[in-house]
Amino acid sequence: MPLGNNIDYLWRGAFSNIEIHALHAVAFKTRLYDEAEWNWVEQCDEHSLGWVVARHEGRFVGFVNVLWDGLVHAFIEDVMVDTAVRHRGIGVGLVHAARDGAAAAGCEFLHVGFDEDLRSFYIDACGFSPAGGGLMELK
Ligand SMILES: CC(C)(COP(=O)(O)OP(=O)(O)OC[C@H]1O[C@@H](n2cnc3c(N)ncnc32)[C@H](O)[C@@H]1OP(=O)(O)O)[C@@H](O)C(=O)NCCC(=O)NCCS
Repeated sequence: MPLGNNIDYLWRGAFSNIEIHALHAVAFKTRLYDEAEWNWVEQCDEHSLGWVVARHEGRFVGFVNVLWDGLVHAFIEDVMVDTAVRHRGIGVGLVHAARDGAAAAGCEFLHVGFDEDLRSFYIDACGFSPAGGGLMELK
C-alpha cells in the first residue's frame, strides 16, 4: 500500500540520536549503539552536505545521509527505512529528496555504492545509471 503524500521528506530535518540508533539497528540488523559511541546528529551537522529524514505522522521511518566533495560530487550513505513500512516507496522518496537537495546545493553528480542484491532498488527504482566502483578496507 503506497503511503504517497503521507510521508514528509525533510532536507536537513531534525532527528535525535535515540531515533536514528533505533532505526539503524532495525534496518541493518545491528546492536543498538548509543550517543557516546556514535553521535549521528553531530557527525551529520559537521560533515554532511545534508541528509533527508522521512516521517510518517511524525514517526521517524527513514533516513539517508548525503556526503560531498564540497563542489560537484555528492554521495549517499546509510539509506534506511523501517522494516514496518518497506515496499511503499519511501526508499525511493528518500533518494529522490537527496538528489534534489544535492542538486539545489550545486552538485552535478550523485554517487552510490551498493551490493548486487540492491541493484533493482538503485538502478531500476531510483534511476541511477550503472557505474563501476570499488571499495578498499583501511584497517
Ligand atoms: C533498501 C531499502 C532502503 C529500500 O526501502 P523501501 O522503502 O522498501 O524501498 P521502496 O519501497 O522505495 O522500493 C522500490 C522498489 O525497489 C526495489 N527494492 C526495494 N527494496 C529492495 C531490496 N532490499 N532489494 C532489492 N530490491 C529492492 C523493489 O523493486 C521495490 O519495488 P516493490 O516494493 O514494488 O518490490 C530498505 O529495504 C532498507 O532500509 N534496507 C536495509 C538497509 C540497506 O540495506 N540500505 C541500503 C544500503 S546500500
